[in-house]
Amino acid sequence: MPESHDGATLVIGVRAPITISSPRGGCDNEETMDAIRVRGGKALKGRVRISGAKNAALPILCATLLSDGESRLRNVPALRDIDTTAALLRFLGRNVRVNAPEVVVDAGKDVRPEAPYELVKLMRASVLVLGPLLARFGRAKVSLPGGCAIGARPIDQHLKGLEAMGAKISLERGYVIAEGPNGGGRLRAAEIVFDLPTVTGTENLMMAAALAKGRTSLFNCAREPEVEELGRVLNKMGAEVDGAGTDVMHIKGKEPGDLLPFDHAIIPDRIEAGTYMIAAAMMEGSDVLVEGAEVQDLEALVLKMRMAGVEVGTKGQSIRIRRNGPLKAVNVTTAPHPGFPTDMQAQFLVLMSRAKGESMITETIFENRFMHVPELHRMGANITLRGRTAAVEGVERLYGASVMATDLRASASLIIAGLAADDETEVRRVYHLDRGYEHIEEKLGGLGATIERVKGAEG
Ligand code: EPU
Repeated sequence: MPESHDGATLVIGVRAPITISSPRGGCDNEETMDAIRVRGGKALKGRVRISGAKNAALPILCATLLSDGESRLRNVPALRDIDTTAALLRFLGRNVRVNAPEVVVDAGKDVRPEAPYELVKLMRASVLVLGPLLARFGRAKVSLPGGCAIGARPIDQHLKGLEAMGAKISLERGYVIAEGPNGGGRLRAAEIVFDLPTVTGTENLMMAAALAKGRTSLFNCAREPEVEELGRVLNKMGAEVDGAGTDVMHIKGKEPGDLLPFDHAIIPDRIEAGTYMIAAAMMEGSDVLVEGAEVQDLEALVLKMRMAGVEVGTKGQSIRIRRNGPLKAVNVTTAPHPGFPTDMQAQFLVLMSRAKGESMITETIFENRFMHVPELHRMGANITLRGRTAAVEGVERLYGASVMATDLRASASLIIAGLAADDETEVRRVYHLDRGYEHIEEKLGGLGATIERVKGAEG
């Protein structure tokens, strides 16, 4: 058996037999699932506390592969995507204890640098193990994620960057097979320009560069707060990452074995916060305090909500949402951070479905992220799709209906629509929701919404 740089045993290929206990979720999962019933029409009042950021926790969990010893993550949300990542790390040979909000990852004896389709298909972010595995163990075999409900979502930028660092990459039978220079050697630094800012692409290359030989420069990086957070964690591990959160990063690579385990509390989830901000704005008379949020990560949303006539007050880590008048139509175009986040598009569109006048909602990041629109038609919304733009003409009322969504944020938007609809809305197949929103029915229920989960409802 080949030895890794620090003596841990590398096991290449699949040890048979392997049983993967799959946490449910992901782009193409079609298992039976719960539904959420919402009875609309109530103004929301009270406080809601925001959980840790899913999209920060996922790359940080993968970063544990860069070191040995025991790493501890705090403020981790109890979500299906976290369970999927834990299952993947276990498959790779790590010991993982998930006891949200805490997760402990400990290096096991063997490393199997392989992410199988059964896990990757549940969650595209599994591709985040590619950079760390290749950098640390000189090789990786990671299933191609395939398409997703919201778009094709290629990973060419991840692969081109790793190739520029000397990796040999081939695609075989649905897998990316990657090997360090000279048959599994250490990656070398490179100057890489992303063709477009990609969040997980930037994160993959940051982790790869942290152990590469020399100083890597990354240009046109994604600037999302979750990327910045990964930079903070890598630096805690002893890496030298300069510029995370800006579009240019310089990373001085460390010797494999030099990065240390870490203890880190994950930043709050800006998209969860934004989702509750919109939920609160749906009904006139609402007054909600969203607590534990990073206001500076939500600026584009705060500005658009104010333009729509929602009162948004900010103080420290709290955001107060009040609605005392009608909503005004506002146009929104999604863009990489600090632009308006694509992960808030569906929710904002629902808000605009009740505004006075017509708003244009343009999606520039994912080509197929309007799946909530046909479901909203069933609730009485007046929306016309023209390519990447949804023309939303506000209506007086939405009506409760049975609806279903095929991605996480679209599911959240339907629940929000249900909060303002007459009668009862049943949102089916909420496994998508469980990938990204911790205890959503309890949190909304705590604000006075009439909401319940129906176990094992038909899809
Ligand atoms: N893209 C390429 N080639 C690549 C990578 C990306 O063409 O190699 C394109 C994508 O197809 C897309 C654009 O670049 O058009 C941006 O995609 P990006 O790579 O930034 O998306 P991601 O990293 O796959 C993350 C979040 C998503 C979020 C997007 C955009 C995680 C785990 N996921 O995805 O979150 O929508 O960034 O901000 O961080 C969600 O939480 O619901 C979610 C989908």
